[in-house]
Amino acid sequence: RWVAVLAGGLSHEREVSLRSGRRLSAALRSVGLTVEEWDTDRDLLGRLKDHRPDAVVVALHGGEGENGSVQTILEMSGVPYVGTDSRACRRAWDKPIAKAELARAGLATPDWVVLPHATFRELGAQPVLDSMVESLGLPLVLKPDQGGSALGAQVVRDASELPTAMVGCLAYGETVLAERYVDGVEVAVVVIDGPDGPYALPAVEIVPVSGGIYDYTSRYTAGLTDFHAPARFDDAVAKSVGELAVAAHRLLGLRDVSRMDAIVAPDGTVQFLEVNVSPGLTETSLLPMAVEAAGGSLGSIYAGLIERAVS
Ligand code: DAL
Ligand code: MG
Repeated sequence: RWVAVLAGGLSHEREVSLRSGRRLSAALRSVGLTVEEWDTDRDLLGRLKDHRPDAVVVALHGGEGENGSVQTILEMSGVPYVGTDSRACRRAWDKPIAKAELARAGLATPDWVVLPHATFRELGAQPVLDSMVESLGLPLVLKPDQGGSALGAQVVRDASELPTAMVGCLAYGETVLAERYVDGVEVAVVVIDGPDGPYALPAVEIVPVSGGIYDYTSRYTAGLTDFHAPARFDDAVAKSVGELAVAAHRLLGLRDVSRMDAIVAPDGTVQFLEVNVSPGLTETSLLPMAVEAAGGSLGSIYAGLIERAVS
């Protein structure tokens, strides 16, 4: 068999994706697969038709790699691929849609407000910011409604920081997701589709070393974040984060692999933040740590998913 690993692309997370693609390709070669690494560009559909790999693995992050666009091209090509289909990608990629869908199903997620850029023009910036603070309190978190690797995300502790933080966030997109800040332990839980259905890998606990936030720099610079895999939870909490991740995977219609990010509050309640349909696979990324904590290997997990995709 030979597989094409799609990486690179045009999003803000291009560099991260190239690192994920390299690591995944090496892992797949180590279990005996023949791998080509493709930088993803406008020729993708033609390339798929001309070369017809047995399967494709999407190691793209952000934008077209996670919002269903590339998945639509893959579906048009008829080449089997590992990962969530285009329709579910579109919904999972939009954080407010994913939150609303899970909240509707009864899962806990921090209160939120969606602020399209146009709202500021129509209602005036200050009234919009005031009403946001009134409904969410401080501190609060601003994020682009679509995005990854914490690019544009800001924790706002004082109302005076809001205008600058809002501008920083809007630099990454037209719409801002504002969320109530939940104090607690940040965790990531990977879900894999196995023969008996989706199962969770051990949760990974994230502790930024400086006590700051888990931003882009602390994600991709070795030593700036401490990780505990498995997370230091008692059995009941470990079980409930795993169940929440599997529930999110199922409810959002995700396929093969996903990673849920959540906050565990001091009382043990778990608050859903988001899911990722193409979890990072770099040297400092969470999924490879979870795989290692489970005693598995990246190569065999993804080789298993490739088998699922082609069969
Ligand atoms: N968006 C990055 C790659 C992640 O979720 O790991
Ligand atoms: Mg994300």
